[in-house]
Amino acid sequence: KVKLDVLAQGVSGCTRCGLHASRTQTVFARGNPDAELCFVGEGPGADEDAQGYPFVGKAGQLLDKMIAAMGLSQDEVYIANVVKCRPPNNRTPEPAEMASCLPFLNEQLDYVRPRVIVALGGTALRGLLGAVDGITKMRGKWRLYRGATPLMPTYHPAYVLRTPTKEVRQMVWSDLQLVLQELGRPIPKRGT
Ligand code: URA
Repeated sequence: KVKLDVLAQGVSGCTRCGLHASRTQTVFARGNPDAELCFVGEGPGADEDAQGYPFVGKAGQLLDKMIAAMGLSQDEVYIANVVKCRPPNNRTPEPAEMASCLPFLNEQLDYVRPRVIVALGGTALRGLLGAVDGITKMRGKWRLYRGATPLMPTYHPAYVLRTPTKEVRQMVWSDLQLVLQELGRPIPKRGT
């Protein structure tokens, strides 16, 4: 999509917030811009900053497993982040940094027009919906992004890696089952 390419070009030269100073490169997206399902994370880590694509490190490997467990291919999803530059030491992006970068994500989602959005973790949720309760309270329940697009909050894969209990994995899988149901997709027998 030409508009996405032009947007990504604009992002690559962005200096709206301080994060630009320490980035190797901006991290815009991966996956299919025509996908019905979009995953949104927090921001690039070291691996993403080095490679230029979102979710290519440890958390990304788990996200890919989750996508596969859903019975979806990489070509059936689009993956992006709230902030496009790596925060130093992987700290959480500050509210001002998120506010600077959010217009990019909103425009990006305008062009992709997914049927369903999955917010990965509390930061993505805050970015996409504004001031809300924490992820623990909000996960597993449908919300509307900009009053129009069904949005499912679930735990960030990095949290699942830090807290790899059956309970947490089961919660994420049950959230993803709701997503498949909304998309009218078959639900595979076993998840992560
Ligand atoms: N975590 C995120 O939130 N985004 C990435 O791109 C990688 C890890």
